[in-house]
Amino acid sequence: NETEVRDRIIDSGVVAVLRGVDEAQIASVARAIHEAGVTAIEVTADGKRASEKIAAVDRELTGTDAVVGAGTVLDAPTAQSVIDAGAEFVLAPDCNPEMIRTCNRRGVVSVPGVMTPTEAVRGMEAGADMLKMFPATTVGPDHIGAIQGPLGDVDIMPTGGISPDNVGDFFDGGAVAVGAGSAIVDYDAIEADDMARVRETAASFVDAVES
Ligand code: 3PG
Repeated sequence: NETEVRDRIIDSGVVAVLRGVDEAQIASVARAIHEAGVTAIEVTADGKRASEKIAAVDRELTGTDAVVGAGTVLDAPTAQSVIDAGAEFVLAPDCNPEMIRTCNRRGVVSVPGVMTPTEAVRGMEAGADMLKMFPATTVGPDHIGAIQGPLGDVDIMPTGGISPDNVGDFFDGGAVAVGAGSAIVDYDAIEADDMARVRETAASFVDAVES
């Protein structure tokens, strides 16, 4: 199952990060983004009622080709609780071996955040399924190949500052997928409760990933 979830993230090409979306709206937002062609959706574990939000998105997308995960998972207890809520993959901005080992014990994909070769090796040794290169745009697309050079073909998912304008450069640089928040999740449209516009903004991002 870990392999299947990992493959679904790669097939999606982009993981859409839902950060700070209200519990009342989050299922509709996730549906709109899924309708735009995004099949990997991350709900961040920071803020209130994260477990309820993950469960709501999971319920909304049950029976579809979507995989639902949790982000900003900074420690092992948080990993346990998001997995209990239904997260099928777990991301973090940092590389915490305890988070990774917790995911492995539960059969869930873990994607720690790394920037340096030391962090990348720490994540790989702990059993990470993929590495999230974060924050991506401060180092740029060349950083992917520079890390893979000595370490081999580890799957890298750049995140942080990814937009329709630069996403192609990160795929050219060797990304297997990217994570995106503000450029794919239209917070103004969410504020206006305009799910058609949420879908359109996400679809423009998906077009950029596919082109
Ligand atoms: C986040 O911190 O929410 C993710 O890294 C996405 O960030 P972004 O808004 O820069 O895409």
